[in-house]
Amino acid sequence: MTRPLYYDCVVAVVCGADAKDNKMRRCVTEDTLMIKTNSMTRVFGDLVAVDNLELNIRQGVIHGFVGPNGAGKTTTIKMLVGLLRCTSGSGMIKGLPAGSIQARQLIGYSPERPCLYNNMTAKNYLLYMAGLSGLKKNEAEARTNELLDWLDLSKFSYKKVGGFSAGMKQRMGLAQALVHNPELLILDEPTANLDPHGRTSIINKLKELNSQQNITIFISSHILPELEKLVHSMTLIDKGKVVMEDSMEQIKQGFSQDRYVLKTSDNAKVMESIKSKPYIQEMLLDQSDIIYITCSDKSALQKDVINAVQQYNLRLFNFGEEEINLEDIYTKSVSTSGVQ
Ligand SMILES: Nc1ncnc2c1ncn2[C@@H]1O[C@H](COP(=O)(O)OP(=O)(O)OP(=O)(O)O)[C@@H](O)[C@H]1O
Ligand SMILES: [Mg+2]
Repeated sequence: MTRPLYYDCVVAVVCGADAKDNKMRRCVTEDTLMIKTNSMTRVFGDLVAVDNLELNIRQGVIHGFVGPNGAGKTTTIKMLVGLLRCTSGSGMIKGLPAGSIQARQLIGYSPERPCLYNNMTAKNYLLYMAGLSGLKKNEAEARTNELLDWLDLSKFSYKKVGGFSAGMKQRMGLAQALVHNPELLILDEPTANLDPHGRTSIINKLKELNSQQNITIFISSHILPELEKLVHSMTLIDKGKVVMEDSMEQIKQGFSQDRYVLKTSDNAKVMESIKSKPYIQEMLLDQSDIIYITCSDKSALQKDVINAVQQYNLRLFNFGEEEINLEDIYTKSVSTSGVQ
């Protein structure tokens, strides 16, 4: 039994007989990475869209895939799921060649623009996708009902997908990706065009999938504040090349500026009292009335700020090390020119 695997927009995964007849040897060790690429490259004419990309994504993580428009995210994702061939180099999914039937069985994929069959009802569409994935009729029925329920779509089961809102279509995209219980979810901008409520709903579902079912999630997004709350690790690419790849903790540490942020009920007074201390290297007051302090002795600064607050009977609104966010890291790391 063979099935169409990927439409340009939708993935169905081959299971059933093909899976049972799996003759391909899988070199899985305990520490096999979920996604590994070796110099993965894709050229379109003169354009090197993906340039010797090296990805190393561990199992069980939520991994963000970030970069400017035209950086090569979708092209990489298409090579990982087997919709595009690499011009050179290769990709592996849990030790299996990317694009192979065996690798596809492990993946649930929701593309940039989920392209659903508008004339089908939600339920029939998912039953159809489940059938393509090799699920038996009763399994398909149960899984479809379970997913519609989990994604709060049950009451629309018999409505045509064409009439769904953008948020409902994204949830349908997620449902079809999950229909065969994949180990790896690859999502290309799953929250684009959604309102805050729709985005939160998808993000919470993804967290749940990861924490309760240990599904590895590889997610591309431009909505960085949201991604920051979701991912454990991240790859940033620009012009087809990796700019950085690490855990969020390590990435943030690398960009830490060792600056303190301070806000009191009388900033001028507290600045006056510490400005001549020998450990102060730089002190700036920004437009929102926050003081940024770079210093050579953190404990002396802490002591003197607390003393000043007590001495002048001030209210302390904020005092702590500055936290760098993903948007700052992105801005510092990516060239702003050449948007394609
Ligand atoms: N089929 C194609 N033929 C020719 N060029 C292509 C093709 N697909 C992508 N490209 C080009 O490859 C580059 C990378 O495109 P890609 O869609 O991978 O970027 P992206 O990072 O996903 O961008 P976005 O954030 O806008 O979705 C772009 O310059 C794009 O125009
Ligand atoms: Mg894209």
